[in-house]
Amino acid sequence: MKILVTGGDGFCGWPTSLYLSDKGHEVIIADNFSRRQIDVLLEVQSLTPISPLSVRLDTWEKVSGKKIKFEFIDLANEYDRLVQLLIKHKPDTIIHYAEQRAAPYSMKSPATKRYTVHNNINGTHNVLCAIVESGIKAHLVHLGSAGVYGYDWKGNVAVPEGYLTVKVDTPDGEISREILHPTNSGSVYHMTKTLDQLLFAFYAKNDKIRITDLHQGNVWGTQTAQTSLDERLINRFDYDGDYGTVMNRFLMQAAIGYPLTVYGTGGQTRPFIHIRDTIRCIEIAITNPPEEGDKPFIFNQVTEVFCVRNLAQLISNLTGVKVDYLPNPRLEVAENDFLIENRKFLELGLNPTKLSEGLLEEIRDIALKYADRVDKTKILPRSQWKSN
Ligand SMILES: NC(=O)c1ccc[n+]([C@@H]2O[C@H](COP(=O)([O-])OP(=O)(O)OC[C@H]3O[C@@H](n4cnc5c(N)ncnc54)[C@H](O)[C@@H]3O)[C@@H](O)[C@H]2O)c1
Repeated sequence: MKILVTGGDGFCGWPTSLYLSDKGHEVIIADNFSRRQIDVLLEVQSLTPISPLSVRLDTWEKVSGKKIKFEFIDLANEYDRLVQLLIKHKPDTIIHYAEQRAAPYSMKSPATKRYTVHNNINGTHNVLCAIVESGIKAHLVHLGSAGVYGYDWKGNVAVPEGYLTVKVDTPDGEISREILHPTNSGSVYHMTKTLDQLLFAFYAKNDKIRITDLHQGNVWGTQTAQTSLDERLINRFDYDGDYGTVMNRFLMQAAIGYPLTVYGTGGQTRPFIHIRDTIRCIEIAITNPPEEGDKPFIFNQVTEVFCVRNLAQLISNLTGVKVDYLPNPRLEVAENDFLIENRKFLELGLNPTKLSEGLLEEIRDIALKYADRVDKTKILPRSQWKSN
């Protein structure tokens, strides 16, 4: 299969590209290095020493004998080049990772809110429009977020996979309809994912594009079988207050003996998935596409659900590092339940990596190994949901 991976230099995109190349697919990465540039602007760096993309690609060719091509392109701002790129490569599948992906960064300032909306919505719409204009028949696989459903659930009802059947009373009796599950975004970033869904519904109906939207949980873990082959292939690990997701932050804090920073009561319950399972889910999604004319397939890409307080306690028990409760910089429900269905991937063969299996490996091989690269001044949250 010929596969275009947008955002292929990023945390999920890089290991995905290597995995699919290793499996014999022809992989082309499209990226504009905006993520690396944001690191420069925020004066932070990945805990792991990530190599420039040219070094990554050369190393992969030496290690595996396989070549991954690269196109430097800004998807949100270079539409005509994108059409030409699709005509040139004619991918069978496009895996679309290229969005600004941090909720705190999206809430940092009016500039970052506007950037996130411009980048994510234009990027996604340009990809859809360019598929139609170029005439290619690519299956589009997009990385959405489980956060589109919102995190204010109470009780024992599991969130379904993307769609909800509703019953409506009409003068002619009750009718039943399947609708996109109502959204309840908690940040500008999550809001862009909810808007992406509407774009997908339209283009699947109007232009018969085959689309799969993956509602993914927080990704944790760093290395995969391929990125471990050579240190120049290492994956990124964000730990800073804007881009570091909660699990990575705790692991890094445990490694350097810095109290684990829980926001609020820590009663937030969130979905998680290991990076190795992200990649496996992508493989399952690309080999099980919808038919032309189908509405978008939506899969919940989640393997486990944890309450932040319990996660902190688990890591504290393993490492002896204490837990600190900070005022919550976010506007979110203090304590929530979150049950979410994930049957589709399990039925298609996903065998999840559990937190209990991967945690110690992650502390030993990543957090402790690179602990001397931590800048402690970047750990605390710097983005506030309210301006005052
Ligand atoms: N990491 C997670 O925990 C997580 C969870 C749920 C969903 N996702 C989604 O998965 C996708 C990938 O996330 P990630 O963690 O790998 O993020 P990342 O920031 O590490 O990677 C995104 C990549 O896309 C590139 N990019 C961004 N805008 C671009 C543009 N306009 N043109 C070209 N390239 C552009 C960046 O340079 C970067 O290399 C995102 O859409 C994100 O929302 C991630």
